[in-house]
Amino acid sequence: MFEWLEGTAVALWVGESLYGYPFMLGCHVVGLAIVVGLFVMRDLRLIGCFEGISYESLDSLRKLAWTGFVINAISGCFLFTSQATMFVSNTAFLLKISMIFLAAICGAIIQNKMRDEGATWDSSGAVVGSVKSLAMLSIALWMGAIIAGRLTAYV
Ligand code: HEM
Repeated sequence: MFEWLEGTAVALWVGESLYGYPFMLGCHVVGLAIVVGLFVMRDLRLIGCFEGISYESLDSLRKLAWTGFVINAISGCFLFTSQATMFVSNTAFLLKISMIFLAAICGAIIQNKMRDEGATWDSSGAVVGSVKSLAMLSIALWMGAIIAGRLTAYV
């Protein structure tokens, strides 16, 4: 199946045309700047940084963050098609995808808690311990995904 995928017109355009791969990788970097930038900023706020920013205002950025995620899922799939047989057996790539999957689950759990309890956190000034731990795990997973994503081309 992955060999077939590599032979499709889309995969050949991404892998062999002058602009296919750089365009998709460019979209990929824009997407990761948005999703990782916003989620890590939210997580840093949850662990106590940037005291002036309210949790409710951070929550209003969630749609933009998930838009960045979708940009990366789409551009990533295009990039993947060009060398599918290589990526599917590449340890760094598989590690990256696993960490992104776990980071997305963390993101959804934190987001739901923020929607329900953000106003309370803003008025009390305190965030429950379990959310702080989840925020630290989320930061570690996104950092790991970026490092593994970059390493994909080298290992
Ligand atoms: C939010 C999710 C994602 C993040 C944060 C992310 C992060 C990264 C990073 C940091 C790179 C290295 C960029 C570079 O070399 O300049 C990369 C490359 C890549 N990503 Fe993602 N990625 C995400 C989602 C995906 C998905 C869902 C797929 C595919 C199913 C994917 C497939 C790829 C491929 C094939 C490369 C190119 C590797 C190379 O040529 O070096 N990515 N990604």
